[in-house]
Amino acid sequence: MHPEEIIRHKRDGHQLSRRQIEYFINGLVSGEVADYQGSAWAMAVYFQGMTPQETADLALAMAHSGEVMDLSAIAGIKVDKHSTGGVGDKTTPVVVALCAAAGVPVAKLSGRGLGFTGGTIDKFESIPGFRTEMNQKDFFAQVNRIKAAVIAQSGNLVPADKILYGLRDVTATVDSIPLIASSVMSKKIASGADGIVLDIKVGRGAFMKTVEEAVKLAHTMVAIGTQAGRRVAAILSDMEKPLGYAVGNRLEIQEAVDLLRGQGPQDLEQLCLALSGRMILLGGAVSSLKDADSLARHLLDEGHGYTKLAEMVEAQGGRVKNLERIADIDPASLQVEVKSPRAGYITGLKTDEIGRAVMALGAGREQSGQKIDHSVGLILHKKTGDLVETGDVLVTIHANDPQKLEMAKEQVLLAMEWGESMPLMAPIILEVVDG
Ligand code: URA
Repeated sequence: MHPEEIIRHKRDGHQLSRRQIEYFINGLVSGEVADYQGSAWAMAVYFQGMTPQETADLALAMAHSGEVMDLSAIAGIKVDKHSTGGVGDKTTPVVVALCAAAGVPVAKLSGRGLGFTGGTIDKFESIPGFRTEMNQKDFFAQVNRIKAAVIAQSGNLVPADKILYGLRDVTATVDSIPLIASSVMSKKIASGADGIVLDIKVGRGAFMKTVEEAVKLAHTMVAIGTQAGRRVAAILSDMEKPLGYAVGNRLEIQEAVDLLRGQGPQDLEQLCLALSGRMILLGGAVSSLKDADSLARHLLDEGHGYTKLAEMVEAQGGRVKNLERIADIDPASLQVEVKSPRAGYITGLKTDEIGRAVMALGAGREQSGQKIDHSVGLILHKKTGDLVETGDVLVTIHANDPQKLEMAKEQVLLAMEWGESMPLMAPIILEVVDG
């Protein structure tokens, strides 16, 4: 087999066999297939697409390109969730806590943020002392003991995706459904969970800009998971505006804590309950979705989710006397309110621009490995659909650098779209695709 033949075959619109896909993916990892051949192949896939069988073969070949986690030492049906990436997405601390409180084990490997979407590990690392590196024995022991652990992806998990994603990122081939689906699902399959709930974001702050595209992606991912013997469900959620009001690592943990203490924003609460309900169902704690949803609600309302999060923070070394007021720890030195220069309805938010403003404050990375500032970010006081008077506070920006603060102010004001009447509002949950 030759890489060039495989590229030509796909370029000309033919279906690749499992053997060809495995050869190409393994060759990318071993170096037998060159980077430029990987890029050309990704472009061929971008234009020609892939059949469901090719997509599943690609996901499995990538999943097996490195280590595959064996979670059998953890008792029970292990569940995981994955978000395709958004702005202000702090669902993981909440849903992990609610599932664990329901007795469903979550052994979660998460990533750091890159670009304008935040990373779960960065959020957890904003809790002083919280350890995101742990050996496998301790990781399994913690999940067996308290049903929850969230650590950073490490080692040799899906090396093929690291290479291929790196090439796609610089060759305009990220936004291809078979490539996104196989990239995400290869990592989920290699992470070893039995049940996976996908949170597919839709809108200006996401890869998928329309519900139609996102439904296609959801069906593709659910089909891959099912072929790999996993239970999978996908929830499509709105990313036309940030989720909740807080954007920035420690500020987001504060909002997640507020939600678990009964004081969270409605959109975040609805999405977290929907995700947790499906995870609890896949984890087999109850036998119907109705029971799973009411269990999630009960655990939230009774504070059991909060107790579980506090237990997990302590187990992972978090040195927090007062988790309820986590944002008061080492706050940003500048906290400035941005007032509205006009009256009217906010008819839209350029979510990606808000994400970029927060990244530029220092909360995110432009390049991997960059150090970040856990304290900076912003709190939105108004979002799409709100009626605003001139002088109302729109946003509070938390910054440590006056110049970056000024830039963020400008960017946030530019991210707001205005009109004279209330816009049509999408619900937070747009669609559900069950396996
Ligand atoms: N997230 C991933 O992990 N992979 C993609 O291709 C896109 C989003």
